[in-house]
Parts: sequence; C-alpha cells; structure tokens
Amino acid sequence: MQGWSLTVPVLVVGLALSASGQTATPPSGQQVAGRVASLLKQMTVEEKVGQLIQLPGAYVPESAQTEERLRKGLGGSVLWVRGVAALNKLQRIAVGESRLRIPLIFGLDVIHGYRNIFPMPLAMAASWDPPLVERAQAAAAREARAAGIHWTFAPNLDIARDPRWGRLIEGAGEDPFLGAAMARAQVRGFQGAYVGSPGHVLACAKHFAGYGASEGGRDYDSVYLSDTQLYNVYLPPFQAAVDAGVGSFMSAYMDLNDVPATANHFLLRKVLRDAWGFRGFVVSDALGVGNLLNQGYARDRADAALRGFKAGTNMEMASGTYGENLVRLAGEGKISTAELDDAVRPILEAKIRLGLFENPYTDETAVETVLETPEHRQLTRVAAQRSAVLLRNEKGLLPLSKTAGRSIAVIGPMAHNADNMLTDWARQGDPKRTVTIYEGVRDKLGAGARVEYAQAIDMQRKYPSMFPGSASKPWTQAQADKAYAEAVALAKRSDLIIMALGELASMSGEGASQSSLEFPGRQQELLETVSAMGKPVVLVLVNGRPLNLVWASMHVPAILEAWHPGSEGGNAIADLLFGDAVPGGKLPVTWPRHAGQIPIYYAHNLTHQPETAPNFTSRYWDESSFPLFPFGYGLSYTTFSYSNLRLKQPQVKLGGKLEVSVDVRNTGKVAGDEVVQLYIHQRAGSASRPVRLLKGFERIALAPGETKTVSFVLGKDELSYWSSATGGWVQEAEAFDLWVGGDSAARLHGEFRVVE
Ligand code: NOJ
Repeated sequence: MQGWSLTVPVLVVGLALSASGQTATPPSGQQVAGRVASLLKQMTVEEKVGQLIQLPGAYVPESAQTEERLRKGLGGSVLWVRGVAALNKLQRIAVGESRLRIPLIFGLDVIHGYRNIFPMPLAMAASWDPPLVERAQAAAAREARAAGIHWTFAPNLDIARDPRWGRLIEGAGEDPFLGAAMARAQVRGFQGAYVGSPGHVLACAKHFAGYGASEGGRDYDSVYLSDTQLYNVYLPPFQAAVDAGVGSFMSAYMDLNDVPATANHFLLRKVLRDAWGFRGFVVSDALGVGNLLNQGYARDRADAALRGFKAGTNMEMASGTYGENLVRLAGEGKISTAELDDAVRPILEAKIRLGLFENPYTDETAVETVLETPEHRQLTRVAAQRSAVLLRNEKGLLPLSKTAGRSIAVIGPMAHNADNMLTDWARQGDPKRTVTIYEGVRDKLGAGARVEYAQAIDMQRKYPSMFPGSASKPWTQAQADKAYAEAVALAKRSDLIIMALGELASMSGEGASQSSLEFPGRQQELLETVSAMGKPVVLVLVNGRPLNLVWASMHVPAILEAWHPGSEGGNAIADLLFGDAVPGGKLPVTWPRHAGQIPIYYAHNLTHQPETAPNFTSRYWDESSFPLFPFGYGLSYTTFSYSNLRLKQPQVKLGGKLEVSVDVRNTGKVAGDEVVQLYIHQRAGSASRPVRLLKGFERIALAPGETKTVSFVLGKDELSYWSSATGGWVQEAEAFDLWVGGDSAARLHGEFRVVE
C-alpha cells in the first residue's frame, strides 16, 4: 500500500471539485506537473509501461486477461466496454487493488452521439453550422460521461476526396477550411472550455494523418501525399484541433509515403510536437502497433513496439506489444527513463485534469436521467433538419401541402428501417427509439391522410460487413419479386410518392469502401418505373456518400439529401418535406457524375489550357469534367440574391487584414437560411494555386424580403499557403480574385492585391 496515503494530500490540493468530482475550475499547469512528478517518482518501470497500455474490454481474445492485468497495474486505459456497472467494476480493480491506485481512463468511439444519435459527421458538416456542431458534441459528451466514458475517439478530421472511401461519412468532407471549422467546434463541444470541464470528455483528433487519401478509396490502403498536399489540405483540421486544445491524438493505420503513420516520426514528432507544440498524448489505432509487422515495416513485435514508441505513440491500443516488450527494452537501455517519463506524463496529466483521481467511479443510478433527454432529442431533430441538402426542387414541388385526404406512398429500403437512419458508430443508439421516414410522415399527417409503406427491395453487401449483426437474411427470389410488385402497385394507387433510397448503414464506415457510386440493388430501376407513372415523386436519399444521380437529376422533380440522419431522422425529414423546416444545408463534398471522375474536388489547379478551350483541355472526351453538383451547393424553399460586394481597400499589406462585405437578400416568400461562402484565388506565385479556395462562410437566417450584410476578414492565415518551391509557408505580394455566393461556383467577383 505504499504510495497512495503519501500522495493523497498532494493530489487533492488546490482543486475545486464539482458534484461529479470533475474539476469546476481547471488546475494550474504547475499543480498538474507537481502531481505527475510526485507520481512518477513512485512508479516502477512496469507501472510506467502499464500507463501506456490500453487494454481491450471486448472483441479480441486478449480481453479475457484484462482484469488480471489491471490488478498488476499493467493497464492505463480500457476501451470497448459499455455500461457503467462493467466500467466501475474495472475501475474498482485499478483503484482498489493495484499498488499505486492510478485510475483508468475509459475510451470509446462516441462519434455522433452516445444513446441519442445525431446525423453522421459528414452530414453535420453539411449544416455549415459550427455552433450547432459544438452543441451536438457537447450533448454527446454529456451522455457519454454520464455513462462512464472519459474519452472519445473523435473527432475524425480526415479530409476525403474520394467518395468510394467508406469513412468519408466520419469526417467533414473535402475542404480544409470547412474541416478546420468543424474540428474546432467538435473539440470545444466534447471537451468544454477546458479538459476536465464538468460533463465533458477528452477528445481525440484522428486519424493522424492522410488516411482519407488511401489509394483507390480502399480502406487502409497506402497513401502518397506530397508536402504541399499535406500542409495545405490534409493537416489544417488537425492543427486547428491542437489550437482548440485537443487533449489527445490517434495515429492512422496506413503507410504515409511508405512509413506507417503509427511509427511516423515526421508526423508524430516533427509536425505534431515540434511545429505545433502539442502537449497531449497520442494513442495508436486499434492493434496499430502490432500491425507494423503486417505492413512489412517492423521485424518482430519488439521492433514494432520500439518503433511505435520512439516515433511518439504514447499509448498502444489493444495489440499488447508495449506490455510484452517495453520493460525489457528499457532494461537493455534502448529506452531511457526520460523517454519513458515523457511518454507517461501527458497520460497522467489527462487523468488529473479529468478529475479521475478524485472521482474514479460513475453514478450507476444517474445514467438514465442524462441519456436521450427531450432536449437532446430535440437537438438531434434540429441537427437533422439543418444538415439535409435540397439538391433539386422543380416548380416548387417541395414543400408538400399537408392537405388531408391524400394518399401518400413511402417506398424503398430506406423508408422504414431504423438501423439505416443511425449508421456506423451508433452502437449505443437504440433502433427501437429511432424514427423512420415512414413514421415521421405518418405522424406528421395524422389520421387525415393515407400513408402507406413498401420496402420494395432487399439490399445486401456482396462481401458482408466485418461488424456483427449488420447483415440480414437475404430474401429469396420469390420474396424479392413479390415485394417489388407490391411497391409498384402501391405507387400506382397513390397520389404522391416519396422514394426513400440510398445505402445500408453497413455500406459506409470502416472497412466499407465500394468501387461504384451506383444505387445498390434494383433501386435505380424502381425509381425509373415509379417516375414513369407521371405522379409527383420526391426522392429522399439516406446514404453515406454521393451516388450517381445523373438520371434522377433530370427526371425526379425533388431530391432531398438526408444522409444517415440519426435518431430523429424521420421526424426531421417530414418537417422538411412538409415545410415545417426549410432546407439550408450545403454539400461538404463535390458531387461527381459518376465514379470515373474521381478524384474530383473544387479546389483543383488550373491547367495550361483553359477549361473553355475547344480542344486539348483536360476534360474527358466522353464525359463532362464538371461535377453534377458543386461543393457548397444546396437549395432552399426561398431564393437569395447577392449584391454590393465591397472590399474596404483594394490592397492589403503583407500580414495585414482585409475586410470584405456583401449584402444578402431573401428574395422569396418564406424565411430560410443561406450559407454565404467566400472563395479566393491567388493569380500567380512561387507555386501554382488552386482555382478557388474557401476562406470564409457564415450560415444566416433571413425573413422574406430581409437583407443582411455579411462581413469576412482575410488576414495572413487566409492568404498564406505552403509552397513546394520554398519548402515552407509563404504569403506573397500578388493579385487575387475573390468570389462570394451560395456555392463554389459563385459568380459575384472582386479583386485585390497583397503588397509589400
Ligand atoms: C479502429 C478505427 O479505425 C478507429 O477510428 C477507432 O477509434 C478504433 N478502431 C477504436 O474503436
């Protein structure tokens, strides 16, 4: 029992604790450092290494020995355990039975909600509404913390420009500026004002870095990115997370330029710690250190442990190589005491800041009062409304009237399937309490209308998902034919058809990349059959990635992208369809015409031949080079006009600030939101610059006839870039174009100069 009785007085000094035991005011850096130093002095090498080990609580065979290891102090963290009782049980072992009684930090993937599930992260980015995103992640944190989780493996900050990649849904899309705004909002939402804010959790910026650029969109595949791409595109959201005070990072799995991210000294030391000054800790991805063998990088597990450790991975998630090797490697002098202490220090600091020493346990009786409160449900509904993107609305078909007596068919595999509203990383969500589209429409219209549903199609992945429970038993041919015919018959006898099509939850997420963007199953055929009936058809998309909408965009009058919208998805979609909410989301990704155009993103460089030239341009001879819908695009039930673009001065000095403002007017008959976007282009420089770059946005609400002035400031951050010619950040005295409007094809143009 050496240690605890000695350290208690030191440990509690100066901390004001809230009722939950979390710190009501943050301890000073000095206090935290003092407590860590005192602990380190008492720790054996084994105990130090123990803090670097994250033990699995489920899924892998090693989880059977978790309790035994904790008793010996050979684990600092546990992941994949759900339920307060189970977590408390483990904590009791660590705090009650291990020598130094250091509490465990419990981690889990709380990505877009805990019990109460928000729209998938890409959808949240489509809201272009950082304050909403912050509130949503604060609600997720509140639920997770009440459920005993201290640390979420989120936000996912991977820029992705390939919709075949299944994990596109976990990030904020293709753009670094939007991605950085979403990063800051999520870190603030999860962590609160400081690490240890009551009711909040530690955030983890992942997957560092470049994961979204895997070759061919295949998950885990190699990534080759130049420094230009890394610094200008893939790293900015991560740096924004550091600036927002994120407490931890997770390294990515894949090779970055032939060096696995888990053991990548350049990323984990040179960029993250040396250049950005990150002082938190890095955890590997699950089994990531052990995987260095599979990747053809490490010689054996000891080599893997040493390389992961030396590169800057503080904590190893689940693969056990640190536990097997680090003590011996330290004994052999391959790891110094200083190196070991440096690795342990930020982990202990996080535990202190989170208040875990003072209050390691979670109140088992309080959980249900926090999960899925009416306020959280309402926030989820608003989030789903605000993240939907209206892609087409010919002749104002939407919003639909609520006139009683109409017969409405809600048809398709997404119409009445709760699992698909929730999607990946919603494992604590409750499908039984999730509102489907059919239920939302039915409940909105009440007894006055006849709302009927037909599933029509059974979809399956060709290669089943690795996640248990994600595949249902496929229909027989006879069942499939019958269901399809029933849906067609339902459409025939209805006045209005809502087609709910898209993708299964298991078709996106980890290990869920796909080669094509076509609608899975017979959905396209069904859409064409129903559309040919000449009745009003509204297409609601529930999906994780852009799908081929070329035909639909010419033949289906109204298309609403709802993504995987979460627990209240069906209600939110009904609100939007019937005008109780007005769509205002915008695409966070460029929407290709089909997979052959990938990669396609708005911020591409110019070529030597203008795109308008008659010949020898870079466009395909058999297809347009333009996307179906540009980045930033989305319609409303009203219209907006932009005018009076003003630049305070025509030129700005290097390092100075330029103010830009524009008047935006609601020219329609209903209130609506517009996301005002500002793009710039540097005309010449030490390196070629993209044709456009997003450098400002604001989502505003406008009443009919109302005009608002929106202002942006362009300063050094917005006007600098990483130049491959100079090998560093530059701001150059050059001429710039500037556009303001409602998407990346905005036409209201201005120009300015940066001068010496
Ligand atoms: C693997 C995933 O890549 C990562 O995002 C997740 O946080 C871990 N597993 C833990 O579940």
